[in-house]
Formats: sequence, C-alpha cells, structure tokens
Amino acid sequence: MKNIILSNGVEMPEIGFGTWQLTGEAGYRAFREAIEVGYRHFDTAESYDTEIELGQAIRDSGIPREEFFITSKLPGEFKAYEIAKASIDQSLERLGMDYMDLYIIHAPWPWEEMDSPDWADGNLEAWRAMTEAYKAGKIRAIGVSNFSYMDMERIWDRCEVKPMLNQIQLHICHVAASTTKWCKDHGMAVAAWSPLGGAPLMGKPPLPEWVTVKSYAKKYNVTPQQLCLRFALQYAGVVIARTGQKKHMLSNLAIQDFEISEEDMLAMAQIDPYWAGGEKSLY
Ligand SMILES: NC(=O)c1ccc[n+]([C@@H]2O[C@H](COP(=O)([O-])OP(=O)(O)OC[C@H]3O[C@@H](n4cnc5c(N)ncnc54)[C@H](OP(=O)(O)O)[C@@H]3O)[C@@H](O)[C@H]2O)c1
Repeated sequence: MKNIILSNGVEMPEIGFGTWQLTGEAGYRAFREAIEVGYRHFDTAESYDTEIELGQAIRDSGIPREEFFITSKLPGEFKAYEIAKASIDQSLERLGMDYMDLYIIHAPWPWEEMDSPDWADGNLEAWRAMTEAYKAGKIRAIGVSNFSYMDMERIWDRCEVKPMLNQIQLHICHVAASTTKWCKDHGMAVAAWSPLGGAPLMGKPPLPEWVTVKSYAKKYNVTPQQLCLRFALQYAGVVIARTGQKKHMLSNLAIQDFEISEEDMLAMAQIDPYWAGGEKSLY
C-alpha cells in the first residue's frame, strides 16, 4: 500500500480502516480479518471504545507492531493540560502499546457545544500535553480533527510544533473545499472520514446525486462505493473507511487499482450538494 509522508517525515498508509461502532467481539473479529486481508492503518478513539480490542487483534496477529500505523484521539471535551496528558497514557494502556503513530484532538469543541465559537485556549492546553508526549516518543505525529480553517487560524501561530494532519468529514457530497485547501497550503495532510457519504448519499431514498455517482462508477468499471472512496482518497490524500464485511474490506482496498482522471475529479468536486440539502457543514 502507498504511504503519504507527513510534515515531520513520518510515513502513513493512504488507506485506513475505521473502527467506529465496531465494538466488542464483533470488532475484534473485524480487526483480525482486516489485518489478514492487508490493512495496517487503523483509526480508533477513546470515545469509540475500540482501543482494547484493536490492540489485542494486533498482538494476536503476530505481525510486528512497527508494521502498523495506529491513530487515536483525544476526546473533544478535554480542553485542559492535565486531562489531555492523562488521556494519552490511558489510550496507550488500553491499546497495550508504548507509542501511537498519530494522536489527534477529536474536535475543536466539546460535542455538546459545537456552536460555541472559540476554544483556542483549551485546544492549546491540550496541544501542550500532546507536544510533550510527541517529544517523549509516545506519539510519532500529532494533529487535529474536525478543525475548520478558522479553528486552525486561531491556533496555528501559537503551536510550537505545528499540527501535521486534520481528519475531516470529506466525501463527494461534502468536499470541505476551504478547509482542505487551507490545510494543504500549510503543509498539513488531510484524512477523509465517512468517505462513503453515509445515509444522505446512499440511504433510502438516496440523494439524486447518487445517479451521477453511479454513472461515473460505470465509466471506471467499479462499484459506486469504490468510486466514492477513490474520489475521497484523491481529493484528501488519506481515506478511512469502516466495514464489518470481508467482501467490503477487499473491495475497499481494491481502489488502489484505478485512478480517476483530473477532469472527472474536478467535475465530481462540483457535485457537493451539502448546503442545498439543508444540512449544516461542520467546517
Ligand atoms: N474524526 C471524527 O470525528 C470521525 C467521525 C466519524 C468517523 N470517523 C472515522 O472514520 C471512519 C469511517 O467513517 P464512518 O464509519 O462514519 O463511515 P464510512 O466508512 O464512510 O461508511 C461505513 C458504512 O459503509 C458501509 N460500507 C463500507 N464499505 C462498503 C462497501 N464497499 N460497499 C457497501 N457498503 C460499504 C459499511 O457497512 P458494512 O459494515 O455492511 O460494510 C458502513 O455501514 C470511522 O469508522 C472512524 O474511524 C472519524
């Protein structure tokens, strides 16, 4: 699998396996299967309750820890130094690992207070704890998640070590153009979460845009889901998809075998109907 290179030189596989909602025994089985079919990059979080099973699946695979790339996240509610410092150690303990490859602030705001504008001071307190852990070798790279370009502007100049990645919701119906551009202009990598578009795109009834997705999928001789994933991969640089089914694990990895033309990427980026659908963008 291809890697991207983060701004501090750390390599990160461009396709990751999402673990949200894959809890307990079913999660453990899915992680073992994902490892078997070739995934080495896994995305977990304290709030997903999947760190223990993921760590166990990795140890039980017998594959050396260094071959994996593991991301976990600081809960959005934790906006102070001490709690962030403790949270890093607790994630390491649950994973049963002595380092994480990437650790990110899950959200710029506590989830219950998404509409309150400015958590910069709290985010910088958390960042201080993350920077310390980064320097101590407990984390190989540090970043953020769900930060709009405005959230980034509020902290960027005040970060001694600059954030290396922003993980954001990004799919054909939500390209987050301004935030993606801001991150890339500042040397940050972008990772796409919910790259399949979720219920709005594929639900019953699907958005009308689904017809367009299907026609592009036909052109490239892939499934609509593969088309969506490949679009998110090429647009963002890193894609994180979740599935509990082996056949989907395989078909999601097979997006490495085709490429969407520049012309079609530009046309597909125009599909974005998010605002028209009345849903509020996070960024
Ligand atoms: N930072 C954040 O705030 C944040 C927020 C949300 C998610 N994430 C991360 O991003 C990961 C991915 O996002 P997500 O879990 O929301 O959604 P997703 O990966 O876009 O979609 C998952 C859904 O798509 C289905 N699916 C997967 N592959 C498929 C395929 N090839 N064909 C048909 N259906 C397929 C899965 O069902 P089956 O199991 O039946 O295949 C599942 O219902 C999460 O697991 C999590 O790690 C981060």
